[in-house]
Amino acid sequence: MTETTTGPDLVQKEDAVHPKGTPHVVCRVDELPPGDRKIVEIDGRSIGVLNVDGRYHALMNTCPHHGAPLCEGVVKGTMADTAPHEYSYGRHNEFITCPWHGYEFRLDTGRALVKTERARVRVYTVVVDGDDVVLYV
Ligand code: FES
Repeated sequence: MTETTTGPDLVQKEDAVHPKGTPHVVCRVDELPPGDRKIVEIDGRSIGVLNVDGRYHALMNTCPHHGAPLCEGVVKGTMADTAPHEYSYGRHNEFITCPWHGYEFRLDTGRALVKTERARVRVYTVVVDGDDVVLYV
């Protein structure tokens, strides 16, 4: 069986192979262990770089709702659609939750879990190059 990937996931994989933008060394790999994050300022933009279970993510540190420092939010999963009075937690550590009003955004694509007019936050490519964590902006 062949696995087909479309949409933002495919774009992310392409970006990881051929990153777009200017590379910026964020830190050494050992300075950003799993569960940790760094907020960096590049060209006047605040960007959060997170190591979530060994996967790196980078997002604009500004919530599109009302401008909160999004990357200071909690990384977690979410509740799945279920029947009334049934609760099921899933998709562990795939989302970051805005610290002000609780909007949830996918770490890999920046899309909001709930569709609103401000449904997406910008994401950036981050790769490991030797001993360095490198962000492309
Ligand atoms: S500022 Fe982020 S949800 Fe309102």
